[in-house]
Amino acid sequence: MSVFNAPEMESEEFELWQAYLEKQTGLWLPESRKPFLIRALSGYMLSKGISNYRELYFKLNAGAVSVGDWASLVDSLTVNETCFYREKHSLGLVSSYCRNMAIERFQAAPDKPQHLQLWSVGCSTGEEVYTLAIEMDKLNLGLHDSVGKEVYFGVTGIDISYPSLAVAREGVYAARQLDFVPMVTKNLYFNRLADGYFQIRDNIRQRCCFIQSNILEMKAKLKQNYDVIYCQNVLIYFKQDRKQSVIDELVERLKPGGLLVLGHGEITGTNNDLLTKVDNKHCLAYLRKDK
Ligand SMILES: C[S@@+](CC[C@H](N)C(=O)[O-])C[C@H]1O[C@@H](n2cnc3c(N)ncnc32)[C@H](O)[C@@H]1O
Repeated sequence: MSVFNAPEMESEEFELWQAYLEKQTGLWLPESRKPFLIRALSGYMLSKGISNYRELYFKLNAGAVSVGDWASLVDSLTVNETCFYREKHSLGLVSSYCRNMAIERFQAAPDKPQHLQLWSVGCSTGEEVYTLAIEMDKLNLGLHDSVGKEVYFGVTGIDISYPSLAVAREGVYAARQLDFVPMVTKNLYFNRLADGYFQIRDNIRQRCCFIQSNILEMKAKLKQNYDVIYCQNVLIYFKQDRKQSVIDELVERLKPGGLLVLGHGEITGTNNDLLTKVDNKHCLAYLRKDK
């Protein structure tokens, strides 16, 4: 079989690459994704005069491929699809959890400023991070009206893909990325640019930060623990044992009582003893038990 006249990929070569990518990034490519792998690798091979997949594999292992080239290869192998307000039920759960948490903390310590930190794992081009920040800002408007106080919040996004993060940091999006954004929200939180694009407003952007990191190596990059960890449409590409070990790492970064929200297809269940499943038929979420 040939994809755009790319060299044939033998089964053995596919298996080498399948294992290599899994080890480096967690991504597990099933046989059905072989054409996708061929497409991603062959363009690079052509530009570098590399004639087969095995040669490229050995070059990578010998460190003969630059960090920038490896980053582009990884980017071409990841699925970066996302949009604003993608998972409504999960977002609703985060909002009500944060509201309850804020009120509980205001009651326990009325004179103390309260902070909530959220983390989007595999944030792609930033829509998920900004959606969470917008929802937190709306929550603050409600808290201001009802209890006369607001929480300080921050949303951190991490992703392995440098190009996706560059888009995220800029915060400029084509209109179709905003298809699910209610009109009132669009008017309140985005500036309409001349060419039909929309830019997220600075008051939201300033609450968000983006970090390049591989989920498999995130320990070194993250210095704090989070009230909410939001991980959607990322682990679906990982093998079951890898999913479990990533979730165990995420739990390490979750504050006691914190909320872990996973996508529905993310994992069938987890055996982490620190987690209690949230009773919600629309989304898969866990609370970290207090120590
Ligand atoms: C399909 S997107 C999901 C985006 C967003 N969470 C959503 O649900 O709309 C998956 C993202 O996970 C990122 N990703 C995949 N493997 C990763 C890894 N090992 N470390 C960090 N990010 C990774 C990809 O680069 C991609 O941007």
